[in-house]
Amino acid sequence: MPVALPLPASYLAAFREQPGYLNFASYGPPSAAVLETSAELMAVAAEGAVGASDKLHAEDVRARAAFGRLTGFPTDNVALVPAVSYGLFQLAFGVRGKVLVGAGEFPANVYPWLRARQAGHAEIALMGGARTLVTPALVAASLSPDVTAVAVSAVDFQTGYRADLAGIRAVIGPDRLLLVDGIQGFGASHIDWTLADAMVIGSQKWVRGGWGSGAMALSDAGLERIRPTLGGWTGVENPSLYDAVEHASREDALKYNVTNLSPFASGAFATALELIEEAGIGRIAAKIEETAGLLADKLDDAGVDVLSPRDAAERAGIVVAGFPDGNAAAAHTELAMAGINATLHGAHRIRLSVHATTDKESIAHATLVLAGFA
Ligand SMILES: Cc1ncc(COP(=O)(O)O)c(C=O)c1O
Repeated sequence: MPVALPLPASYLAAFREQPGYLNFASYGPPSAAVLETSAELMAVAAEGAVGASDKLHAEDVRARAAFGRLTGFPTDNVALVPAVSYGLFQLAFGVRGKVLVGAGEFPANVYPWLRARQAGHAEIALMGGARTLVTPALVAASLSPDVTAVAVSAVDFQTGYRADLAGIRAVIGPDRLLLVDGIQGFGASHIDWTLADAMVIGSQKWVRGGWGSGAMALSDAGLERIRPTLGGWTGVENPSLYDAVEHASREDALKYNVTNLSPFASGAFATALELIEEAGIGRIAAKIEETAGLLADKLDDAGVDVLSPRDAAERAGIVVAGFPDGNAAAAHTELAMAGINATLHGAHRIRLSVHATTDKESIAHATLVLAGFA
């Protein structure tokens, strides 16, 4: 098991979630700094001083710049979105041709494609079924000459499997678009996001920035080839020139803007991103990798099935416990009674997810409870 570099004490002190919080794949409790930013920005709005609106919307720039630095994309290639789905809808209505999508993807990465197909915008081919791992081999087996893009999660919400983005890129070549739902990976794992032509995330999970914001980053090829079909009034040149004519779409990623975003959400997102930058994504990811590995090992020791990948290269912060007897709901209730927050997935699975702030006591406690159901 790799030894994680120590995280700055200031990072660890920034969070105050209860012990037993093992549900970061659902949402990540925000830091004190995020709470402060939200309150301060709300206070600025409440004051209503001259220039308040400009000051508030400048938070977008702070968030886009930080996201660009963390993903390796220029700020011009980054747009903000209110949630992952909004970005994926932009992609689904903007690409042409046939798109390969894992049938078992989180629904936020399926419905946009279904809707785009129903509207006659894209053709789609669904790969596999629930819990099929979207591997380079599956993509290779599903490819046909008319496929123009592949849409995949960087980390699968249900299995915890971390996709081999480099392998998928190698299989599809440079000319097809690689479209990545990054929400379960960004902030949890050290991933080369520049392999993607478009990646979309939300602020609410591993970033720990709260709901209502997120970002979409595009390669130059993605920017060129993904049309702003759903772009709105803030996605055009001179949006405030109210001259009753259609304005040209912007050239940069802001062409996918639909309207103005919540400055409170953008500011919270920016603060959360800057905290990640300060601590170092490598250190956060290493700590998560170590703690997730520890949890899987402890579950093994307790005789509980581990259904998520064991190889560190194939996982991020999600560990899935299996209940072959179908008593996952009872185990989940017992966890809740013990103050442990996790997600129930049907009769046979509980998804646990750890962050860099997760302590060993929480792991031991959860394992002890689950041992009773092994
Ligand atoms: C892989 C994945 N994509 C997207 C989402 C959320 O999408 P949205 O931000 O649109 O609610 C989730 C979880 O809620 C998820 O696990």
